[in-house]
Amino acid sequence: MGMGSPLRRRLLLSLALLLLATACAAAAAKPRLSTNYYRHSCPRAERIVADVIAAKQRANPSTAAGTLRLFFHDCFVGGCDASVLVSPLSSPSTAPERAADINLSLPGDAFDAVARAKAALEAACPGVVSCADALALAARDLVAALGGPRFAVALGRRDSARSDARDVEVNLPRTNMSARAMARLFARKGLSPREMVALAGAHTVGFSHCAEFAHRIYGYRGAPGEAHDPRLNPEFARALQRSCAGYKDDPTVSIFNDVVTPRVFDEAYYKNLPRGLGLLASDAALWEYPPTRVFAERYAANRTAFFEDFAAAMQRLGAVGVKTGRQGVVRRRCDALD
Ligand code: HEM
Ligand SMILES: *[C@@H]1O[C@H](CO)[C@@H](O)[C@H](O)[C@H]1NC(C)=O
Ligand SMILES: *[C@@H]1O[C@H](CO)[C@@H](O)[C@H](O)[C@H]1NC(C)=O
Ligand SMILES: *[C@@H]1O[C@H](CO)[C@@H](O)[C@H](O)[C@H]1NC(C)=O
Repeated sequence: MGMGSPLRRRLLLSLALLLLATACAAAAAKPRLSTNYYRHSCPRAERIVADVIAAKQRANPSTAAGTLRLFFHDCFVGGCDASVLVSPLSSPSTAPERAADINLSLPGDAFDAVARAKAALEAACPGVVSCADALALAARDLVAALGGPRFAVALGRRDSARSDARDVEVNLPRTNMSARAMARLFARKGLSPREMVALAGAHTVGFSHCAEFAHRIYGYRGAPGEAHDPRLNPEFARALQRSCAGYKDDPTVSIFNDVVTPRVFDEAYYKNLPRGLGLLASDAALWEYPPTRVFAERYAANRTAFFEDFAAAMQRLGAVGVKTGRQGVVRRRCDALD
């Protein structure tokens, strides 16, 4: 019997079909994000988001830092699935994440930026591009807009059909955590200490409310009055005490995370740490723990190393717990579940 016999050909064919079917089943079980996910369904998606976001950032320069933080919180609580965007005002059946998230200290401009991007996407390609992808693209664009690295964003995230305030507390790092505890939390999301330190470099922009670090500048560890955390530069501590003096009456008072170059995405965050200019206790902690300090030292000395690692870590952050394929939904609005 020669190679071309019908029986043999049929056997080969069924074998090929079987392999193909197995491959398809595997692909269906584990669809991956891809940079060209919307190539046919919404080819201008990235451009549409970029234009809307650039205009929003020009009008409200605090948009960038807020959106970057929003992306982080989205990905850490139930995966990057836009669950953080659901508004308590949309009357969901359970209190959504946003109701618990540092009691709504999440910045309004960031939500507005994503809502605008989504509205433009819906006008061009209704029901196609997820809110989770819109947020991932917006965060990427805004890092670049502040002078940070630009990187590719893999797409195809689907949105969550739920958002529950009770998921927030256990999934987000808090400023009073040790570096070791933060590393454990990041490890649970599949992120290494190196990736954690690179991502924490996001604190090179934006601001923190006084309540987040008040314990470091007033009556530190039960000491009287103006006692401050000795890890803080004394002059910086005094300046913070003055700026935050009225924070209990006006809880909106906030301080730049990076006092040296607050609006530029650069490596200054890491340079600040050994000088006692890290604002949050969690920032200071990264410098004290040798397994995280090595990376902080490297990034302080080498902006290229920081940018490369930050970009890679953002791509890994953007893949945490994503819903793909038939999981999740594509919401029509980002601030509501229906
Ligand atoms: C490592 C543990 C982290 C802790 C404990 C932490 C904690 C905080 C806190 C308490 C604030 C101040 C919020 C406010 O007062 O409104 C803040 C702000 C911020 N965080 Fe983090 N964060 C961490 C990691 C990250 C990561 C990984 C990112 C992003 C990749 C990030 C991005 C930001 C940004 C951009 C701001 C400024 C927000 C704004 O200006 O609106 N943080 N963070
Ligand atoms: C958030 O804080 C405000 C006052 O700062 C308070 O009125 C409100 O009840 C708080 N909301 C939640 C959900 O804790
Ligand atoms: C951190 O602060 C929260 C309340 O703000 C508290 O519940 C928690 O026990 C503190 N954690 C540590 C490690 O001190
Ligand atoms: C800075 O980091 C980059 C990227 O890791 C590396 O190629 C370069 O050699 C480093 N520069 C110095 C001066 O160490």
